[in-house]
Amino acid sequence: MTFYPVFLNLRGRRAVVIGGGAVAEQKVRGLLAAGAHVTVVSPETTVGLSTLAAENGIELRRRPYRAGDLAGAWLAIAATDDRTVNASVWAEAERAGVPLNAVDDVEHCSFIAPAIHREGDITVAVSTSGKSPALAARLRRRIANMIGGAEARFCALLGELRPDLAARVPDARTRTALWYRIVDSDAIEFVRRGDMEGARGRIDELIDEVRAQESRLKPRLGTARERALQLPLQRQCRAASSLADSEPGVVYLVGAGPGDPGLITARGLEILRSADVLVYDRLVAPSLVAEAPPGAECVFVGKRPHGGKGDRAQDEINALLVDRARRGLTVVRLKGGDPFVFGRGAEECEALHAAGVPFHVVPGVTSAVAVPAAAGIPVTHRRLASAFAVVTGHECDGVSNLDWESLARVPTLVVLMGLSALPEITARLLAHGADPDTPAAVIASGTLPAQRTVVATLATLADRIAEEGLEPPATVVIGEVVRVRELLSAEAVGLTHPARGLVSQA
Ligand SMILES: C[S@@+](CC[C@H](N)C(=O)[O-])C[C@H]1O[C@@H](n2cnc3c(N)ncnc32)[C@H](O)[C@@H]1O
Repeated sequence: MTFYPVFLNLRGRRAVVIGGGAVAEQKVRGLLAAGAHVTVVSPETTVGLSTLAAENGIELRRRPYRAGDLAGAWLAIAATDDRTVNASVWAEAERAGVPLNAVDDVEHCSFIAPAIHREGDITVAVSTSGKSPALAARLRRRIANMIGGAEARFCALLGELRPDLAARVPDARTRTALWYRIVDSDAIEFVRRGDMEGARGRIDELIDEVRAQESRLKPRLGTARERALQLPLQRQCRAASSLADSEPGVVYLVGAGPGDPGLITARGLEILRSADVLVYDRLVAPSLVAEAPPGAECVFVGKRPHGGKGDRAQDEINALLVDRARRGLTVVRLKGGDPFVFGRGAEECEALHAAGVPFHVVPGVTSAVAVPAAAGIPVTHRRLASAFAVVTGHECDGVSNLDWESLARVPTLVVLMGLSALPEITARLLAHGADPDTPAAVIASGTLPAQRTVVATLATLADRIAEEGLEPPATVVIGEVVRVRELLSAEAVGLTHPARGLVSQA
């Protein structure tokens, strides 16, 4: 069963609690804290409830429940351990339309109470849909570790600044993006240090930045076009030409890292969280796509594993970036690994430059280095490898322009997109004098929970991979450094999900 989560305003409203034990007392105290008028119905009560009644904090009916007790109630809780009583209360609650929570008796609940954590004005409620209150309580404790006094003080400050910010940034969409920028910024660090003035100053700076950006940008395409349509015919041409002149937005090419969402840079994440438009590739983690602000346009432009009709051509992607930037939008082009390592990032920059669209590149953690690292393989090592080369496997089949003689002598060779051409790659290296016993490895889905590593030698690698049936994305590493993996663990490189993949050794 799925419950609809809400926070109720109980101030001045009547709540009836059936039962007088410790659980009932806990519920009563929660209801009183929310400002409810509470009536308790029970022949026996805890000392705490008796005291509350004596002090007129609650109305106490010292007798068993009887039909009619819910009259005038806005909400009811049955905290008895008697299911027949719960069933009677439930029948009355349903007849009278009073929401009822029967403790540990989900059959007789029209609402359930979540595990909550409160810090100032922040309340986090955790529900397991009644399946495990204990798990909810533990999860609540974990969340509580993340929300402390600083977050509560920050929340109070943001509440205080809300009217001023609404006046200074009237455009609702810009304001929403600005709020995200503020909460994702370092403003909270000032609060943590107790420097509330510093936090205000930082927020002021962010507001000024956004306003300056806004005033630089002329009206966005949609709005201007709408306005143009409302103009008399003779003025439409002028409006259309001013539209063509309008200053563009900006495109950020951001490296998303090799797969583990924790491996994007702090700068990359900050920019992603301020995107109007997100254009992303296949190997980008779904949880990073979810970091785009609500309302951002998210466009998938990745190539499907075996190609397909839906795949977008590079020209189309370039045109999309230019088009959205020309509407004055902040476009984030999120690419796997680093944008400039076999990612066609440079081509996109050239297209943006040719179109006069400003762009910035935020480098990423490339799979060429991070994927071997996730399998415990350093690409260099003081004793084993003082240089490494990275090549694309797409250059290795058929006619190859690569200098294979040099590649056969490079201490560490990393091949991206090399899985299907692996037999040609290993054959060329062997033909150009590489040692057949050179250790070699393929790591598939590196840094992800499904990571798999196969280790062999240069001579046996292609056959071993065919036997193991590894699937892309995969990175090939050839060199003495592969031996080091025994000494290093995936945890050593600090992954969000320590790689648990199957490891096999030839
Ligand atoms: C088009 S290239 C892009 C490389 C990317 N720009 C980078 O810096 O990592 C994609 C190739 O990177 C490698 N790759 C990307 N993510 C990987 C992962 N999680 N595990 C193994 N290899 C990966 C694979 O060789 C894949 O075919």
